[in-house]
This record gives sequence, C-alpha cells and structure tokens, in this order.
Amino acid sequence: MIDQRRLPLREEYVTCRTYEDVAVAIRDMVIRGAPAIGVAAAMGVALGVLHADDIGLDTQIDRICDTLTRTRPTAVNLFWGLERMRRLYQSLKGQPLAAIRERMVAEACQVRLEDIAINQAIGKHGAGLVPDGKTILTHCNAGALATAGYGTALGVIRAAVESGKKVDVFADETRPFLQGARLTVWELQQDHIPATLITDNMAGHFLKSGRIGCVVVGADRIAANGDVANKIGTYSVAVLAKENGVPFFVAAPVSTLDLTLASGDQIPIERRPDAEVTHVFGTAVAPEGTHVENPAFDVTPNRYVTAIITERGVARAPYEESLRRL
Ligand code: MRU
Repeated sequence: MIDQRRLPLREEYVTCRTYEDVAVAIRDMVIRGAPAIGVAAAMGVALGVLHADDIGLDTQIDRICDTLTRTRPTAVNLFWGLERMRRLYQSLKGQPLAAIRERMVAEACQVRLEDIAINQAIGKHGAGLVPDGKTILTHCNAGALATAGYGTALGVIRAAVESGKKVDVFADETRPFLQGARLTVWELQQDHIPATLITDNMAGHFLKSGRIGCVVVGADRIAANGDVANKIGTYSVAVLAKENGVPFFVAAPVSTLDLTLASGDQIPIERRPDAEVTHVFGTAVAPEGTHVENPAFDVTPNRYVTAIITERGVARAPYEESLRRL
C-alpha cells in the first residue's frame, strides 16, 4: 500500500504480510477512503486464510474478520468487504484448504478489479452533471488513493476532463488530517488537472463568488433516506452550497449504501485521537491540556444533496425510492 500518512512529502510503500498488518494499516490510515478500506479488508481476509491452518478454520475466520471489523467504524465498505469474503467462505466450507485459499485470494483480487470498474462507471454517470468552464469544489480525498483506482468524486472530475470539459478543482485542505492538501492536490497534479488549495474556512467565500459550478464529494455511508456520512466538514460545505444555489453531488459506489439504516442519525461516527487536532506534523499548535473534540465524519441531511452518483446511475430525491431502486 502507498503510505498515505507520508504523502506528498514521501512516496513510501507499506507491505502487509498478515491480516493483523492490514488491520493496523487501516486503523492508522496508511490506507483510507471507504472503497479502499473495503478492498483492503477483503485482501486482509485473504491474507488471513493463506496463513490459517485446517484445524478450527471457522474460529480463525471469525478472529480475522473481528480484528478487521474493529478498525474504523464509519465506512460501511469495510463491513461490506468482510461480509462478501465471509459469505464466500461459507459457500466453500468442506472443500480442501488449498482450494479455499485459492478462491478467497481470487475473490479479493476480484473485489479490487471491480472497484476500479465501478469508479469508472461512476465517472461516466457523473461527468454530464458537471458544468463546463467552471470550478469544482471537493472536500477530503475521494480519489484513486481512496479507492482501488480512478476515484469516486475525483473519478467524476477525471471523466468530465476526459469528456473534454474545461474544469479546474478547488480542494479544501480538510483539517485535521489534511487529505485535501496532502492527497487530493497531489493526485490531481499527477493527472495535470488544475488544482487550487483552499483552507476549509474559505469554502463559503468561494461558493458565494459564483466561481464554483458544483461540489462533488465522496461518502463513507449513505442511509436509506439519502443522508450522507462523509469527512468532517462536508456538512458545512453542503449547507453553504445550498445557500448559494450551487449543486452538491455525492459520488459513491452502491457498496457505500446502508439501506438497513433509516436515517443518518444511526450512522456511527468515528472519534479520532486528540493529537490530530492539537498537533500538525508532530508540532503542537494548542496549549498542553487542551480539551478536544475530533469526530472524523459528519452527516449531511438529504435535503442538501442534489444527487447521488453511483455506478448504477444517478439517484435524486426522494432517496428512499431512488436508492432502493439502484
Ligand atoms: O478518514 P478518511 O480519510 O478515510 O475519510 C475519507 C472520506 O471521508 C472520503 O470522502 C470517503 O471515504 C469517500 S472515498 C472515495
């Protein structure tokens, strides 16, 4: 895995040799972004099965999945990836261990390949929604780094550019982990898509200016009513977008939908360590003993969401119906 904690200053890779390594990589955000976490989880299970032995395989699978489950709570793709692998294991039970290993490794590789194709399909569905000749605002990183490749929100942007649209991107820096500054700008630079970095508190100013044609963000979990959990700060951007008549699009695979939850109120929100807020690159920016809140995600109510772009098509309100159809 490319180590996303080190980008853009260093391009380093982490090799995970065990499922425990994968769990640590997800928890510590070596790898991040909902779809990438889902793919990593599937790969983690495959790695676990490769090293498992014949005796008590069920218990070992439970342990592998439990360990990976307890890494990050919000992105539903994690649980989706684990469930897909668990279901496959159930269907293979009784077969020789070598055959189970082979099938589960192949499945994890398949999950990765499918994710790239899904992102390209999201891009195709979304490209037409992006206004030509305008700036697109995005928050966090919902790009190739956050997926197996191409990206969800950045996939829509890539597809718009590939279709000949002249767009540029404003990237919110995305405090406290700086996914926008460190990852989105880096990624767009690789593709020579013009990118401008702004601090999170500049979003309102630019949304009011008339320069921003639309907002496109990713998602970590979308409830049945279309409420969207995404990186902290997304909600503020959505409200400011609506206030200024700017369309707010969410790009996400169907595996990010959690139709078991009626609304976003039920989405578990991850709380991350205080040090992410009090320190920047290891340097304290607040007095010692500062009380901190650090929710990693917020929930944008469906009324702010213009459309949800998936690989199966575009959903619009009322989301209860449109998401279920997808
Ligand atoms: O904490 P992170 O960096 O994993 O949060 C990522 C996001 O919020 C992304 O917008 C979301 O996972 C979609 S990635 C295609």
